[in-house]
Amino acid sequence: MSWNAKESVAVVTGASSGIGKCLTQRLADHGCHVIAVARRADRIHKWNRSASAHEFGGVTPVVGDITDAEVRSTIRSTIETEHAGKLDLLVNNAGIGGIGRFAEATPDRLRQIMEVNFFAPVELTRLLLPSLQRGSASVICNISSVLGHCAVPDKSEYCASKFAMHGWSDSLRAELAADGIQVTLVSPSTTKSEFFDSLIETSPNQQSRSLGHWTPQKVANKAFNAICKRRREVILSLGGKALVYFDRLAPALMDKILAQRPAKPTDLTKTGDR
Ligand SMILES: NC(=O)c1ccc[n+]([C@@H]2O[C@H](COP(=O)([O-])OP(=O)(O)OC[C@H]3O[C@@H](n4cnc5c(N)ncnc54)[C@H](OP(=O)(O)O)[C@@H]3O)[C@@H](O)[C@H]2O)c1
Repeated sequence: MSWNAKESVAVVTGASSGIGKCLTQRLADHGCHVIAVARRADRIHKWNRSASAHEFGGVTPVVGDITDAEVRSTIRSTIETEHAGKLDLLVNNAGIGGIGRFAEATPDRLRQIMEVNFFAPVELTRLLLPSLQRGSASVICNISSVLGHCAVPDKSEYCASKFAMHGWSDSLRAELAADGIQVTLVSPSTTKSEFFDSLIETSPNQQSRSLGHWTPQKVANKAFNAICKRRREVILSLGGKALVYFDRLAPALMDKILAQRPAKPTDLTKTGDR
């Protein structure tokens, strides 16, 4: 069974930039109606004006913070009023990060990252499950990270949030199999988006180490294909796959390699709570 975008209804969180923006456009171009969610009103309202070439596709913007229960309720009521309570695809994409040693961070960094990257998508999914049950070959696509498979230093809170999403996705997939709902876990590695401009509690000098990067468009294309094929999981990029499989094969050696590259103590400053 495959998932067909044409005349389907989708929710995409984090649709104002990066992967979520590209995926929203891709879905709309294939005739899907997308409820696009993010906090930046100016960007999210642009979806009203950006027409899809397809006669069925379209975008309904919902402005708000997904950690806010009222915003999540607005998403549900939009599905109820505009689409008779039927949803075919939920993309839990919105996410934030922070770089720096755990010992030097405040509890707030962990709390904020877990709220956005884990608790909000979980509670949004809970709320939308009845609508997904009414959908056709429904898919819940969770945008995780290779760091949800292999943890690295200086991103402990982010890794924890993505490991949590990974574990929850695997449980949910088994629970929902009988209902015909697939859970697709997409794990990108470094992506050249606005992600690194909106890190929380991160020193401006702090660098993220990575082996190359993909464009958000390329990640969105891979995610779209994984959704259409109803794949259970995709790990993106050669560097990402190498990291994940090397960690699985030789975890003790990986620990040694990661421990050899300690980060310098950082001067933590808030760079904004976008
Ligand atoms: N970039 C990477 O290297 C990378 C690698 C692996 C995985 N990922 C994952 O990919 C996903 C998308 O990231 P990206 O790279 O496309 O970054 P991005 O360009 O910064 O996009 C993040 C999106 O999330 C939205 N967002 C953040 N907090 C939100 C909140 N509380 N409520 C609603 N929307 C919120 C942002 O919109 P507003 O600011 O307008 O709300 C934005 O649209 C994330 O889950 C990230 O963890 C990224």
